Amino acid sequence: MENPLIVANWKMNPQTTEEAKTIALSSDRKGVVICPPFAFIKSVKERVKKAEIGAQNCFSEKKGAFTGETSPVMLKKLGCRYVIIGHSERREYFGENNNLINKKIKVVLKEGLTPILCIGEMKKDTGGMDDIKEQLVEGVGDLQVKKIIIAYEPIFAIGTNLPCDVEEAEKKKVFIKNVLAKNYSKGEQAAVLYGGSVNSKNASSYIKKAGFQGLLVGGASLKIKEMKKIIENVYSL
Ligand code: 13P
Repeated sequence: MENPLIVANWKMNPQTTEEAKTIALSSDRKGVVICPPFAFIKSVKERVKKAEIGAQNCFSEKKGAFTGETSPVMLKKLGCRYVIIGHSERREYFGENNNLINKKIKVVLKEGLTPILCIGEMKKDTGGMDDIKEQLVEGVGDLQVKKIIIAYEPIFAIGTNLPCDVEEAEKKKVFIKNVLAKNYSKGEQAAVLYGGSVNSKNASSYIKKAGFQGLLVGGASLKIKEMKKIIENVYSL
């Protein structure tokens, strides 16, 4: 990946299509991936010219009797290129485990989409290396890791305004890269992003100082001015 990737995870926001279209315009730049809720994917896709579109989740099967689920086939047809898989909110509130996450990644790859696998320690004070390694190795399984984007998101930094220290994040990035290199052929080629309380002040340091290849931005991606600044800061590096 040459240019840093900025992935905007809107989570379950905003409330209306009109708002979604307005927010999307502020992120419409090459290198940005907008991940709106399923309900707004079509409208956002039609609105933007340069940004790519991603989904926040999908099911592990392509079709069938799975009430309430969304297939990667449908997402591809809507114009998505990326799918976030295994976000900590899915793990925590919807009981997603590494086995299911691996199945989802498999079906996403089969559809020719790029999965963004979210991993991160569950608690700050444990060091969290075991969590990270397990989520990474069991999530990727025997799939080709260079086709998967890894997003390191420490739980304590998500939605808290308490971003992970840049030095600490860099240590985790080095650890993730080592696990990738040890366990997978061309593992070091997989891109690793940082997510967790990213804002316009800290965005570029995760890339410039810590060496991440992009960012996964939650709350700040819904704030028009803030997101514009993040994009400006990152792409003027
Ligand atoms: P915040 O940027 O709101 O902390 O959310 C991070 C996140 O979960 C992105 O996937």
